[in-house]
Amino acid sequence: MKVTCLAASNVRGRGPESTSTRVCRLVSELISERVGEKAQLEIVELSGYELQPCVMCGECADTVRCVYDSAFDEIFTKISQSDALFIAVPHYAPIPAKLMMLFEKFQEMAYLHYLTKRKGYPLVGKKVGIVAHGGQPESEETLAYYVDELLKPVANSLASVGMKITGASADWPLGVVFGITGMIEPKGKLLPDFTHDWDQIKARVTPLVEAVLISL
Ligand SMILES: Cc1cc2nc3c(=O)[nH]c(=O)nc-3n(C[C@H](O)[C@H](O)[C@H](O)COP(=O)(O)O)c2cc1C
Repeated sequence: MKVTCLAASNVRGRGPESTSTRVCRLVSELISERVGEKAQLEIVELSGYELQPCVMCGECADTVRCVYDSAFDEIFTKISQSDALFIAVPHYAPIPAKLMMLFEKFQEMAYLHYLTKRKGYPLVGKKVGIVAHGGQPESEETLAYYVDELLKPVANSLASVGMKITGASADWPLGVVFGITGMIEPKGKLLPDFTHDWDQIKARVTPLVEAVLISL
């Protein structure tokens, strides 16, 4: 079984220490604990890719490849070949621009497939688990905000191209969300570092990972 986890962080310099990549590492650990070597998990960090927005040239209609964007093609191939996808998405404004560039192309390729009456769009039926998070302290209000403004738009965009959104439970039908526990303001640094409750995040992400594995 092949699983891809997309870390949608784009904060320069955080790299593997971005919250989104840490979520992907957690997903990876949870999967290995449950299915061992049966799963091959790859973490794809969008911060390492230079993506281009869709210009709707229509060139991808026959090939499902973007002639202007080899970075997109690489990621699209990885996702197409996966049995399941996880996305760890931070709140930026609200959806990180590189993730939106992927979504634009997912949509336009699906639309061209429909217009040309082709069958078998590679994303149709692909299982997705979404973990959405942001830089505001955890509260009922913040979590509801992350659901409405981040989790739902991401889930809607993926569902519109035929992907199957997997929830963690009846209370979390579209995925899970989390906020921060506090901020540290290191001397001499303009930007604060965020702190998280990783035990609580693990407790939220575990049922999501299990639900995706069961659905495969
Ligand atoms: C451009 C940008 C805009 C952001 N806007 C918001 C925001 O409106 N609300 C929020 O809760 N967090 C916001 N954040 C904070 C991020 O969600 C937070 O830092 C998150 O932990 C980043 O995750 P990452 O390390 O995976 O990139 C913003 C961060 C960036 C870089």
